[in-house]
Amino acid sequence: MADTDSIPETKEFFLDKPQSATPFPLKGCQNLDWGMKNRLSRIFSPKSGRTVMLAVDHGYFMGPTSGLERIDVTINPLLDYADTLMCTRGILRSITPATFNKGVVLRASGGPSILKELSDEHIAVSMEDALRLNAAAVAVQVFVGGEFETRSIHNMTQLVDAGNRYGMPVLGVTAVGKDLARDAKYMRLATRICAELGATYVKTYFVSEGFETVTASCPVPIVIAGGKKLPEKEALTMAFQAVDQGAAGVDMGRNIFQSEAPIAMIQAVAKVVHENMPPKQAYEYYLTLKAGAS
Ligand code: 5RP
Repeated sequence: MADTDSIPETKEFFLDKPQSATPFPLKGCQNLDWGMKNRLSRIFSPKSGRTVMLAVDHGYFMGPTSGLERIDVTINPLLDYADTLMCTRGILRSITPATFNKGVVLRASGGPSILKELSDEHIAVSMEDALRLNAAAVAVQVFVGGEFETRSIHNMTQLVDAGNRYGMPVLGVTAVGKDLARDAKYMRLATRICAELGATYVKTYFVSEGFETVTASCPVPIVIAGGKKLPEKEALTMAFQAVDQGAAGVDMGRNIFQSEAPIAMIQAVAKVVHENMPPKQAYEYYLTLKAGAS
């Protein structure tokens, strides 16, 4: 029922209080539009400003790699522990429960398989389909120094233009080719190019020498890929060093789903990323959870 004059005036306008403005926790993202920030908040925890993205998109060029042969069996049980799922639209539609309501980062570039020149990618998802799937971001591979470097960068800038029209963040994924050095100098170059050309955030690899210069010179958040499977303690140490040196989290695949105890591992990674748990303690936490599960 509408207010009437007979009802006593109970309004409170808090005239002595300036309107509050909640700061946005992600580096370089304060000037983005509301929809973009809202999507990013489905990827990065608003509390820690960091993310544990579970990457399972490898099949788009590697096929059913170890640990991803049956995503329904091996990955769906991990979803409760991830902040975000990174996958292809094929896996999302065929296997991921539609009740999963955290962020989905959609693989949006592809083309060649591991049998061919990997940098020969094109855009593989339209912005319309990404919106239909309620994606929180789209991800595109950028091959700085690769044979098709310019096209891969153009793939990214096209997605950035489309994403800016609809409020869709773009994750620029710096790909490391066989012949490219994996050092801080290369990572600085690749991540900075992605950010300068409009990536909302950037994924790269951790390097043991000078990673803090990679995060310092990239004006937007960086997440690290896990890379090839390492012993669990080493993977937790890498995650710790990365966030300690300025990364906003991990986009980790094989070091979680190829672990002997993936559910324990993802929870240990989350402790490191969100709570800065030191690697030794995180490894003990992993072992305790693993023992409890067996
Ligand atoms: C494939 C990718 C993967 O998502 C990325 O490499 C993360 O997975 P992993 O931790 O297994 O390296 O972008 O191109």
